[in-house]
Amino acid sequence: MDQRRNWPRVLDSDGWSVALLCLLLASLSRSVSSNALFNTFHSENRDWTFNHLAVHRGTGAVYVGAINRVYKLSGNLTILVAHKTGPEEDNKSCYPPLIVQPCGEVLTLTNNVNKLLIIDYSENRLLACGSLYQGVCKLLRLDDLFILVEPSHKKEHYLSSVNKTGTMYGVIVRSEGEDGKLFIGTAVDGKQDYFPTLSSRKLPRDPESSAMLDYELHSDFVSSLIKIPSDTLALVSHFDIFYIYGFASGNFVYFLTVQPETPEGVSINSASDLFYTSRIVRLCKDDPKFHSYVSLPFGCVKGDTEYRLLQAAYLSKPGEVLARALNITAQEDVLFAIFSKGQKQYHHPPDDSALCAFPIRTVNAHIKERLQSCYQGEGNLELNWLLGKDVQCTKAPVPIDDNFCGLDINQPLGGSVPVDGVTLFTSSRDRMTSVASYVYNGYSVVFVGTKTGRLKKVRPVRGSGEPGAGSVSLGML
Ligand SMILES: *[C@@H]1O[C@H](CO)[C@@H](O)[C@H](O)[C@H]1NC(C)=O
Ligand SMILES: *[C@@H]1O[C@H](CO)[C@@H](O)[C@H](O)[C@H]1NC(C)=O
Ligand SMILES: *[C@@H]1O[C@H](CO)[C@@H](O)[C@H](O)[C@H]1NC(C)=O
Ligand SMILES: *[C@@H]1O[C@H](CO)[C@@H](O)[C@H](O)[C@H]1NC(C)=O
Repeated sequence: MDQRRNWPRVLDSDGWSVALLCLLLASLSRSVSSNALFNTFHSENRDWTFNHLAVHRGTGAVYVGAINRVYKLSGNLTILVAHKTGPEEDNKSCYPPLIVQPCGEVLTLTNNVNKLLIIDYSENRLLACGSLYQGVCKLLRLDDLFILVEPSHKKEHYLSSVNKTGTMYGVIVRSEGEDGKLFIGTAVDGKQDYFPTLSSRKLPRDPESSAMLDYELHSDFVSSLIKIPSDTLALVSHFDIFYIYGFASGNFVYFLTVQPETPEGVSINSASDLFYTSRIVRLCKDDPKFHSYVSLPFGCVKGDTEYRLLQAAYLSKPGEVLARALNITAQEDVLFAIFSKGQKQYHHPPDDSALCAFPIRTVNAHIKERLQSCYQGEGNLELNWLLGKDVQCTKAPVPIDDNFCGLDINQPLGGSVPVDGVTLFTSSRDRMTSVASYVYNGYSVVFVGTKTGRLKKVRPVRGSGEPGAGSVSLGML
C-alpha cells in the first residue's frame, strides 16, 4: 500500500491548501516531466468551500466533500464527476420523517454542508453525509457517484443537522465478507433526545437492506448508543461534544473529542465561562452494549504551557527511528495530534499550538490502569456529564487484560488524569490546524498545515541523550 496516498484524508476545511500541496508533491514526485508547477481545482461557486477529502488507496482517485457537492477528481485534480447534494428546501426545525410528522415551518433554500465522507472499500462505495434534512447520508458508487441508496424515512437515518465541519466523525469497521458497522460520533446542538452523541450502526453489504444505519443493538435496557442527558444541558446550556477524529486500532475503535467541562453541581449558562477538555474515547469493536466505553482526557505539555484544545489528529506508523525513541515497534500505531494552548476559547483557539505523539500502546496502558483501579473499588467513575453524579467504582475480582471489554458494572468509565503525549514541536504563531504523516526510509515525516495555509514538514528525530521518549527532539527539513 502506498502510504502517501493516505495522508490528505484527515485534513479539514482549514487545512485544505495543505492537502492540495501534499497531493501536488506526491504527483510531482511521480511525474517529473510535468511542466505545470501545480494543478488546482475550484468548486463552481466560491462559497462552496471544501469540507472533507478522501483519497482511494488503490486507484488514487480523489473524493471531495464540499458544500452542496461531492466531487470525484483524478490524481492530477481533473474533475471526473460532480454530484449535487444541495441547496435544497429545508428548515432545521422540521423533524423527519415528514410523512409521520408533517412540518409547518417555512422552508428555505439551504446549503448542504458535507459532514462525513468515508470510502467503504470492501463494497466499493462512498458514504457521504450532509447537514440537510437532519443529516441524511447517501451511499454513492465509487466509479461514477451514482446513488446506490439514500435512506431517509426513519429516525435512525438522521445523524445530526449541525452545519459545521469538525463536529462529526465516523469509523467503518468490517471483517471481510461480512456486514459492516459504522461508529458515529456527532455534535447534537441541543437536540439530545433526537440524536445520540455516539452510536454504532449497521452497514449491510446490500444497499437496499431495510436495516441500513439501524442501531447495532436497540432494546429497552441496552443499546449501541450514548445520549447526552437533558440534565446536563439544563446545567450547562451550551454543552455538546465535538468529534474531531476517529480510527480503529486492534480490537478497538477510538474517538477524539473536545467537550466542555462539567464541574459537579455548578450551573454554567454563558459559553464564555466554559473550560474545554480534549478526550480519548475507546470502545471495543465487538461490544454492541457499549459496556466498554472509557474516556480519558488527553493533551500535552511543554515547560509550563499546557496544550489541551485538540485541533486535528492522524493515525500512522512511527517508522524505525521514532519507534526506537518511543520504545515501541515500527509496526505499532502512533497518533499524531495538534493541540492549541489552554482550555478556554475552543471556538477561537489561541495561535500557540503543539504537535504531539501518542503511541496507542501507551493510551491502552493508561486505560487498562484506570479500569484496574476502578475494579479495585478505588474512587468514582468520574463521568459527570453522562452520569450526572459521582458514582463509586465497585470492587470486583475480575481479571482485566489488554482486551477487556467491560461488564455491566463500572461503566461507562471516565477519568480526570490526562494521558500526556510526547511533545514534538510547538509554535506560538500561525496556529497549526491539520496533520498527516508517513514513513520514509525508516523516518517518520509529519506534515502540518497552519491556519494561513502554510505547510510545515517535520521530522521527529532521536536526540543524542538517553534513548526513550524524553529524548525525542526535532529536525525541520
Ligand atoms: C489527468 O489524469 C487523467 C486520468 O488519470 C488523464 O486522462 C489526463 O490526461 C491527465 N491530465 C493532465 C493534464 O495531466
Ligand atoms: C424555519 O421555520 C421558522 C418557523 O416557520 C422560521 O421562523 C425560520 O425562519 C425558518 N428557518 C429558515 C432557515 O428558513
Ligand atoms: C449554517 O446555519 C446557520 C444558521 O442556520 C447559517 O447562518 C449559516 O449560513 C449556515 N452555514 C452554511 C455554510 O450554510
Ligand atoms: C520499553 O518497553 C519494554 C516492553 O514494552 C519495557 O519492558 C521497558 O521497560 C521499556 N523501556 C523503557 C526505557 O521504557
